[in-house]
Amino acid sequence: MRILVTGKNGQLGRSIQKIVNTATKIDNNQSPNDFIFVGRKELDLSSESSISQYFDNNKFDIIINCAAFTQVDRAKKEAELANQINHLSVKQLAIIANEQKARLIQISTDYVFDGENNKPYVETDIPNPVNIYGKTKLAGEQVLQEVMPMNALIIRTSWLYSEYGNNFVKTLLRLGKERDELNVVSDQIGSPTYAADLADAILEIIEHKKFRDEGQTTQVYHYSGEGEISWHELAKEIFKIEKIECEANPVTSQQYPTPAKRPRNTLMNKDKIVEVFNIKISNWKSSLNTCMKILKQQQ
Ligand SMILES: NC(=O)c1ccc[n+]([C@@H]2O[C@H](COP(=O)([O-])OP(=O)(O)OC[C@H]3O[C@@H](n4cnc5c(N)ncnc54)[C@H](OP(=O)(O)O)[C@@H]3O)[C@@H](O)[C@H]2O)c1
Repeated sequence: MRILVTGKNGQLGRSIQKIVNTATKIDNNQSPNDFIFVGRKELDLSSESSISQYFDNNKFDIIINCAAFTQVDRAKKEAELANQINHLSVKQLAIIANEQKARLIQISTDYVFDGENNKPYVETDIPNPVNIYGKTKLAGEQVLQEVMPMNALIIRTSWLYSEYGNNFVKTLLRLGKERDELNVVSDQIGSPTYAADLADAILEIIEHKKFRDEGQTTQVYHYSGEGEISWHELAKEIFKIEKIECEANPVTSQQYPTPAKRPRNTLMNKDKIVEVFNIKISNWKSSLNTCMKILKQQQ
């Protein structure tokens, strides 16, 4: 199997790479899978010609699209670019995947929902994004389902963090050491997801018979860490683990305005991915501890 992973410098792309590289060392390069990791340099998703040129010379059995325009606030000002990367390039990837008879895994977001539900979202709940980022990601999901009614898979995830790139955990660790107190939003609820856990789940799915079998209808799945917390509670836990003496003050979204609106409650129900692919869901606290231990070792 030739497997392409886009977004090799992003949180999820790097997390997949780490697992694959470790496994390759352990099994002494005996894996039947050949992973190819690409970044913007090799495959620029903002350019239609870059995409077609790349795939003219490269054929794959599976494409895992981890690349995206992920800056939620910037997406408002750069809507056209966000749309190109999160929507139009997904359409092009889907057309190419069909031509190459490849499977396509697209990563999407809890931000396709408006956050007004009072119980965890299931895959069939109607999306209603409240910001441009969510709108472009939803458009990517929809076009993928249209172009590839078979052989694709969409995984919606939430609040990704890792030891790589910029994310809430790393930002809070830095700010917590610099300041005595910090205002953190307490009225947005979700489930933090450790990118390494999601990477593990994706690598399990691609080995699963239900994914490998021909002619599977394209489906949406929800995947996040287990648990239900606010950004404020997450900040408090980060400070507690690291013994940082910074006070996290709870504030409302109204008191902490951002250029793009955020949904209030984006908890997702993960029963479907657990049932279909037998995926284990990790508790957010234990995964946070794992990630923070690795971050400490890197210091
Ligand atoms: N982060 C979250 O909290 C979150 C939450 C829910 C869902 N998701 C989804 O999860 C997936 C992975 O997110 P992540 O946190 O790993 O994202 P990330 O760390 O921001 O990485 C995204 C990657 O996409 C690449 N990229 C951006 N524009 C590109 C272009 N024109 N051509 C090629 N590559 C381009 C970036 O390349 P450069 O490194 O060169 O900039 C970056 O490496 C995304 O689909 C995202 O929408 C993320």
